[in-house]
Amino acid sequence: MTEIETLNGEVRGCQRCRLAQTRKLAVPGEGSERADLLFIGEAPGFWENEQGRPFVGPAGQLLDELLALIGVKRATVYISNVVKCRPPGNREPLPDEIAACAGYLDRLIAALKPKVVVTLGRYSMARFFPPGKSMKELHGKVVWRDGMACVAMYHPAAVLRQASLRPVIEADFRTIPGILAQAKAGAAQQEQAEAEQLSLF
Ligand code: URA
Ligand code: SF4
Repeated sequence: MTEIETLNGEVRGCQRCRLAQTRKLAVPGEGSERADLLFIGEAPGFWENEQGRPFVGPAGQLLDELLALIGVKRATVYISNVVKCRPPGNREPLPDEIAACAGYLDRLIAALKPKVVVTLGRYSMARFFPPGKSMKELHGKVVWRDGMACVAMYHPAAVLRQASLRPVIEADFRTIPGILAQAKAGAAQQEQAEAEQLSLF
């Protein structure tokens, strides 16, 4: 078993926070273990809780459409969430739940070593971006962390609630191939970008 298979198995049986008591199925990440691109959502919703798979409901349908827009096959990327169990009634995840679940994301990132991390929504953004700025300010922006390019995007569910965000997230997705190319191009550009990002905050 790979480390990712091991940790996904641990997620399926996890009892580390109260969400274990109300979930139906825990939702480990899924995708290619050779993925360069890692998408991190917020938490499973209704359909994910039923099926035990990430982004299979309406938000997942939109994610599939956005991936198609940039010619990326879902099977070639990796998709996970900040918390792996559905908060009851789709409430927002609580700080202690996020903390209890954070180790799984740390281990996934350590094992997968993605080149680009796309954060979907505020909770995922908060893991990589400094606090105090809104999604409106940060979406589409890139920061470099441990050799990975991290780019913030609106959550697909937010886009479904607010149609005016659709062209915004589409434009942000269209930047992904270029960010990936830059990340693959190596350390020199990353250092340059790190210097540039200092002027962002
Ligand atoms: N929304 C998320 O944040 N994650 C999912 O897996 C599904 C919907
Ligand atoms: Fe475990 Fe995370 Fe599920 Fe909480 S949300 S029970 S920490 S897998």
